[in-house]
Amino acid sequence: MKRIKKVLAWTGILLLVLILGIGVIAATRQNQKYEAPYPDIKASADPAVIAKGRHLVLNVAHCIGCHSTANVDSIDFNTVDVPLSGGRLFDLPVGKIYSKNITPDTETGIGNYSDAEIARALYYGVHPDGTVVYDFMPFHNVSKEDMTAIISYLRTQKPVKNNVPENKLNVIGNLVKAFMIEPVGPEGEIPATVKKDTTAEYGRYLAMYVAECNGCHTERNMAGAFVGEPFAGGKPMEAKGYPSLTPPNLTPDPSSRIYGWSQETFINRFRMGKLIPYSHMHWSSFKHMTDDELKAIYKFLQTLKPVKTKTGS
Ligand code: HEC
Ligand code: HEC
Repeated sequence: MKRIKKVLAWTGILLLVLILGIGVIAATRQNQKYEAPYPDIKASADPAVIAKGRHLVLNVAHCIGCHSTANVDSIDFNTVDVPLSGGRLFDLPVGKIYSKNITPDTETGIGNYSDAEIARALYYGVHPDGTVVYDFMPFHNVSKEDMTAIISYLRTQKPVKNNVPENKLNVIGNLVKAFMIEPVGPEGEIPATVKKDTTAEYGRYLAMYVAECNGCHTERNMAGAFVGEPFAGGKPMEAKGYPSLTPPNLTPDPSSRIYGWSQETFINRFRMGKLIPYSHMHWSSFKHMTDDELKAIYKFLQTLKPVKTKTGS
């Protein structure tokens, strides 16, 4: 009996030391700094480049859906300016994360960041101060031409002062950050330009790196890593006070939500915008994608490996 008690006591002490040790390592890793290259990107003042950037920022890459607290479903943000002043809360199991102010304000926004620093944050997941950018944004392989257009447009906005709250991770979040999160960078070489046409190849580029269809329509784990079959349906998404919604399977399997949809049906669905008011999908942005962009995405989805929908999706 005495022996068992002793063993239990030692096990307890060992566990405590282990937990404390993990806690100390986790704490020292919270503000870890990372190195990454500074991309060769320079904003342009050419109105045609800025107009392209505006379409990407407001519509395809839907920056506005995350970098504004306005109800973008009720504002025609292609005609009325909505500042990208950040502060949208992502209340996650790992803690509270806020989108940043990306207007050119020099104190609370990106006014003091160089073009290369902004491009580095988006391509390599490293903030100007060297800390990790949580991987909310999929733009690691956006072409240099498109990245130039995006940053050129960001520079033309009116500066808005808005001090966004600091992120607050909980205990799980601190552990996930310490042991599972690293800056995410490009796969292979970043293309200088990508041909804008209606091919599946361009559709893949849009769906994977610009519009982030895969970010929701493929299952991911708590650290954001992809764990499901590509586009076979995501994890149920919660909205406070509403039933959860599951991003459906978009592969060409008979069990998929969009099986049998013609290209025209697909484009028309996008033109309708948001039908379920509490849906997380950025329909209000995506509905402004061009016919060619939507045709390309449709073609790409047709090339995917058909995967049977999981029950409940
Ligand atoms: C799905 C939501 C989402 C979308 C879409 C999105 N962002 Fe972000 N963005 C965030 C969040 C959240 C952060 C803060 C991440 C962090 O704290 O590490 C962030 C951070 C940033 C930063 C880093 C700022 C800094 O101070 O270091 C930049 C720059 C940025 N976003 C630009 C953009 C641009 C440009 C677009 C569109 C092309 C965009 N974002 C689209 C959610 C989003
Ligand atoms: C932020 C998460 C998110 C992103 C990004 C996203 N979706 Fe969705 N999607 C959802 C959710 C949730 C639903 C189910 C609710 C609804 O229909 O709005 C959905 C539904 C759909 C539907 C079915 C609509 C219907 O009426 O049955 C299609 C088609 C679709 N998404 C395609 C796409 C494509 C293509 C992209 C990229 C351009 C995309 N989604 C990006 C979350 C997302």
